[in-house]
Amino acid sequence: MIDVLRRHLARIGRKVRASAKTAIESSPARPVVSKTGLFQGNVARSHPAVKCGESILDKGFGVEFRTDRNEPCVEIGNECILKCKIIFETDTGSVKIGDGCYIGGTRIISAQSVEIGNWVTMAWGIMIYDHNSHSLDFRERINDQKRQLKDWGSGNFIRNKNWDVVDKKPIRIGDYAWIGFDAVILKGVTIGEGAVVGARSVVTRDVEPWTVVAGNPAQVVKRLTPGEPLTSGDLSEI
Ligand SMILES: CC(C)(COP(=O)(O)OP(=O)(O)OC[C@H]1O[C@@H](n2cnc3c(N)ncnc32)[C@H](O)[C@@H]1OP(=O)(O)O)[C@@H](O)C(=O)NCCC(=O)NCCS
Repeated sequence: MIDVLRRHLARIGRKVRASAKTAIESSPARPVVSKTGLFQGNVARSHPAVKCGESILDKGFGVEFRTDRNEPCVEIGNECILKCKIIFETDTGSVKIGDGCYIGGTRIISAQSVEIGNWVTMAWGIMIYDHNSHSLDFRERINDQKRQLKDWGSGNFIRNKNWDVVDKKPIRIGDYAWIGFDAVILKGVTIGEGAVVGARSVVTRDVEPWTVVAGNPAQVVKRLTPGEPLTSGDLSEI
């Protein structure tokens, strides 16, 4: 009777060890963490290419990587509230946001560099594009389309795009600037300190500091008085 029981227990033990072995062998040694895709809200902090200070990353905030990026290409300072979406279609491009910025539902698409200063206010619907995305030569755009058709369904339909033929230039937005809703800021533009960009403007050329620009292409419509330079004491009462 005891022998029967012993054989039965041994059989159960063998079964348990076999299924545990199968479970270990069928699961990968380490979890595979993909560095491509959309990293939304606070999840973005976990990406190796994102460096973020003490700022609020709203659920509307996101960084989309179409390729693996390991070196920091998104830098965010302190005291910001961000609801924007940053998109890297290729393995170049960077976005730097200073301190105290409020950025609403804006899209920033970078293949070169976008630098936003401190205490910048940006509304929703803004598009910041530091490159043209395609060549002015129609033959290159046909090549783009042919490659897209070939790579469609691979998970990244522009994986073989030829970025060498795309014009790219850095964008800089100075401290204290305010960009109105639905504005478009194109490659190579520097927006000066304290400048204001009117709603729905298309900014194709540099904007002088302490001016208001509006229209398409954006033109100066007003000049502002900067006033006294900001001191640390100016902000401490809030
Ligand atoms: C149209 C475009 C491709 C032209 O690029 P480009 O040949 O490098 O043009 P430049 O920057 O040299 O500008 C040439 C002139 O056109 C004006 N201009 C350019 N784009 C303009 C626009 N969208 N609206 C109004 N004026 C525009 C510039 O102000 C400049 O005029 P100026 O010399 O009198 O100041 C580019 O300006 C653009 O719109 N890029 C975005 C393309 C896009 O939508 N890509 C998204 C994915 S498909």
